[in-house]
Amino acid sequence: MADLRIFVTRQLSIDPREVVGPGIAVEVFPGPQAPPRELLVAHARGAHALVTMPSDPVDGPLLDALPSLRIVANHAVGLDNIDLQAALDRRVWVTHTPDVLTDATAELTFALILAAARRLREGEALVRQGRFAGWAPTMLLGRGLRGRTLGVLGLGRIGQAVARLGAAFGMDILYTRQRSFRRADGEGEGPEVGLGELLRRSDVVTIHCALGPTTRGLLGAEELARMKRGALLVNTARGAVVDEGALVAALERGHLGGAALDVYEREPEVHPGLLGRDDVVLLPHLGSATEEARRCMAELALGDAARVLRGQPPLHPVVQGRQGV
Ligand code: GLV
Repeated sequence: MADLRIFVTRQLSIDPREVVGPGIAVEVFPGPQAPPRELLVAHARGAHALVTMPSDPVDGPLLDALPSLRIVANHAVGLDNIDLQAALDRRVWVTHTPDVLTDATAELTFALILAAARRLREGEALVRQGRFAGWAPTMLLGRGLRGRTLGVLGLGRIGQAVARLGAAFGMDILYTRQRSFRRADGEGEGPEVGLGELLRRSDVVTIHCALGPTTRGLLGAEELARMKRGALLVNTARGAVVDEGALVAALERGHLGGAALDVYEREPEVHPGLLGRDDVVLLPHLGSATEEARRCMAELALGDAARVLRGQPPLHPVVQGRQGV
């Protein structure tokens, strides 16, 4: 057991040894950025567990280059960076970190909704640039949330938490689940509607679906054109759900009232058409970035890695790997 080794691709917010315990060595990639593939393979060679970040692609060639791996523990809830079939084919466990980041991500979503609705960026810039000349009845008027419609695209754990916050702000909630994306407009009575109707009726559309083959590019030019004129688009899920070029065009046309984004189609690149706009709020993928959430995420990922190396089943599996040591 003394030779067992976990490789972590980035510095974590806690010391991994607090979680892993004796008999398992932990090595952390020293750089602040994702290691390029060759460096990752060189460092992780011989490791039995890999703790990965959302920006680390894990595919068949990587798994083949690291044949001693028994588990890939993703330090994230989203799994779009991992080829799950490739892991299943090689009987490598894959785990993730659900629940512990739900509140952090829902709170950040609301921070973005409020920032966009109440023009916080512009207000902050005005003060910092010394342009604040005193209270004025017409200065930087935004939108109130009470009575507006919040469209939650994807009703998983985070979507539900955002819907609860929306209700607390007095918003009317509509939602669409992946299975009802294709519902016909006008079908059904309740808050669950098809994608078209959600886009047509919402004042704020907030994205909370997973990224996969059916959601990549889900909001393109046509879908954005179906949104209410002046509506806000908020994305704390995955950037590639939205066609960023089409979003820039919809903003430039004045069809959308603004956007607030924590994630990007080609992260960490940001479409240049977004950067100069006052009606866009941009954050660097901070959804789960609270001390509490990041500690719990690290504990879950490292804990599951250690469990598998000790021959126990992990607590948050997505792909089942080989049983036993
Ligand atoms: C972060 O983006 C996550 O999926 O946890």
